[in-house]
Amino acid sequence: MSEQDRQKQLVGEAAAGHVEDGMTIGLGTGSTVERFAESLGRRIAEGLSVRALPTSEASIDLAHRFDIPLIDWTVTTHLDLCIDGADEVAPDLSMIKGGGGALLWEKIVASAASRRLYIADSSKLVGALGTFPLPVEVVRFGHQATAEKLAAHCPDLARREKGGEPFVTDSGNFIYDCRFGRIDDPAALEAALGAIPGVVECGLFVGMADSLIALRDGVVVTVDGQTDVWWG
Ligand code: 5RP
Repeated sequence: MSEQDRQKQLVGEAAAGHVEDGMTIGLGTGSTVERFAESLGRRIAEGLSVRALPTSEASIDLAHRFDIPLIDWTVTTHLDLCIDGADEVAPDLSMIKGGGGALLWEKIVASAASRRLYIADSSKLVGALGTFPLPVEVVRFGHQATAEKLAAHCPDLARREKGGEPFVTDSGNFIYDCRFGRIDDPAALEAALGAIPGVVECGLFVGMADSLIALRDGVVVTVDGQTDVWWG
């Protein structure tokens, strides 16, 4: 197992410890969340009662694999806790997400939760956001025109592909990955991108993370705010 996979396992297992009996949770997307789901599945098999609202079709598959009971929005619009991964986390706990293309559902689910907990291996902790290409979800209609407006903010952008075909999100949209290099004001950029007609959502998660589980000097720690941060 690689060091990164070992870290994903550790933070995923630690996150499962934050789920309490009777909770309704948001179930994130990605390989780190997969380790969380595996650990949560073990706790459910031992008797923990949990219901999960998925953040993607892939997240639904994860729930099925690990026997995590699923709900949808007709059951509740309020979640106790949302647990998800991240592609980059800055010292102010702003994040880039959407490497797996699930940013829209991930943001909707996170915004419905009382508490949002993110899990990340050390490679995700950055001094400033923007090395990871920022995913921007765009409706297909007129996406060429929307991309031109996006290019005014970030000329280095590309429509995401998968298997030689355009990548299509769970909501039927395209994603443009935008290489900013460095994002100094994520909140301002999120607002500017959101103002472009045709942009559905971008992968900037600003002010969303209540807590982060990561490794510091090889030890799993829970960061509950900017004062706990050691990197950057
Ligand atoms: C998917 C996401 C994931 O949380 C993010 O890409 C991290 O994935 P991984 O844990 O596989 O590195 O935002 O849209």
